[in-house]
Amino acid sequence: MEIVKLVAETKAKISKFKAEGKTIGFVPTMGALHQGHLSLTEASVKNNDITVVSIFVNPTQFNNPNDLKTYPRILDKDLEMLSEFEPDLIFIPEVEEVYPEPDTRIFDFGELEQVMEGKNRPGHFNGVAQVVSKLFSYINPDNAYFGQKDFQQVAVIKQMTKNLKLDINIVPCPIIREVDGLAMSSRNMLLSELERKNAGKISETLFKACNLVPDFGVSQLKEWVVTEINNNAYLEVEYFEIVDDTSLKSIEKWEDSNNRIACITVQVGKVRLIDNISL
Ligand code: PAJ
Repeated sequence: MEIVKLVAETKAKISKFKAEGKTIGFVPTMGALHQGHLSLTEASVKNNDITVVSIFVNPTQFNNPNDLKTYPRILDKDLEMLSEFEPDLIFIPEVEEVYPEPDTRIFDFGELEQVMEGKNRPGHFNGVAQVVSKLFSYINPDNAYFGQKDFQQVAVIKQMTKNLKLDINIVPCPIIREVDGLAMSSRNMLLSELERKNAGKISETLFKACNLVPDFGVSQLKEWVVTEINNNAYLEVEYFEIVDDTSLKSIEKWEDSNNRIACITVQVGKVRLIDNISL
C-alpha cells in the first residue's frame, strides 16, 4: 500500500504497471471510509492485478458550502481501514493540482440530471463528472467501482464514460448496510445519537414497501412511504420516487417498468441521507 499525492507520480506508476500488462481497478472515494467503500475495494482487489483507491473531497460537487465544510476528513483512520485489503496505491491529490484553474466543462446527461439528485442538487453531477473524468484520465483504469447506494451517480458515470468514449468498465456494487438496515454513509457519523437511532426508519420503511407491491398502487405506495417516514419527528422526506432503473423516469403504474427502483432522500437534522431499493 503506497500513498501517492502527485498526479505525475501516479501516472508514471500506472504506466509502468500497464507496460507490465497488469489490469488496473479504480475506486474513487471522498474518504471517511466505511464498509461500503471497503466492499468496492475488496471487489477491485479480487478482480484486478492493481487497485488504486483515491481519497479526494471534491469541492465542485458540493452545491451546499456548509456540507463541504462539515464533510468528515479522517485520513489516518481511512488508511488503517484500507490496510485490510491492501490496495496497491492510495491516491490523495491536492485540490490545487486537480483544479489549477476553475473547471468550466459542462457535461450533458440529458434527462438523467433532471430528476431526483440532479434536480435537487443543481450542479452536483456536473461536479462529479468533472472530477471523475479527471481521475479517469490520470489512472486510466480497466475497471472502476461505484456503489449502488448512489444509484443515479452510477447512471451518470456510465453515460459520461459513453459520451467520452472511454474504454472503462463501470462496475456497480451492492449497498452495504448497518445492522439496523441504514445504508452506510460517511455522513452517518454527523448524526446525533437520537438522529442515528431514528434514521433506521428510512430503510425499515423501504423494506416494508417492497412487500406492499403490487397490493398498493404506485401513488398509494409513494404516499404511504412519505407519511410513514414524515411521522417520525427526526425525519423529513425531500423526495421519494419510483423509477425505471435504466431511464430513471418515474413510473405511474407497476406495468410501466419491470425493473423498478425506489429512491429516497431524507433530511435528518442537518444531514441529508439517500437510499434506494429495488421493488
Ligand atoms: P463517496 O461518497 O465517498 O463514495 C465513494 C463510493 O462508495 C461511491 O461509489 C459510493 O456509491 C460508494 N458507497 C458509499 N456508500 C456505500 C454503501 N453503503 N454501500 C456501497 N457503496 C457505497 O460518491 C462519491 O464519494 C463521489 O461522488 C466520487 C464518486 C468519489 C466523486 O467525487
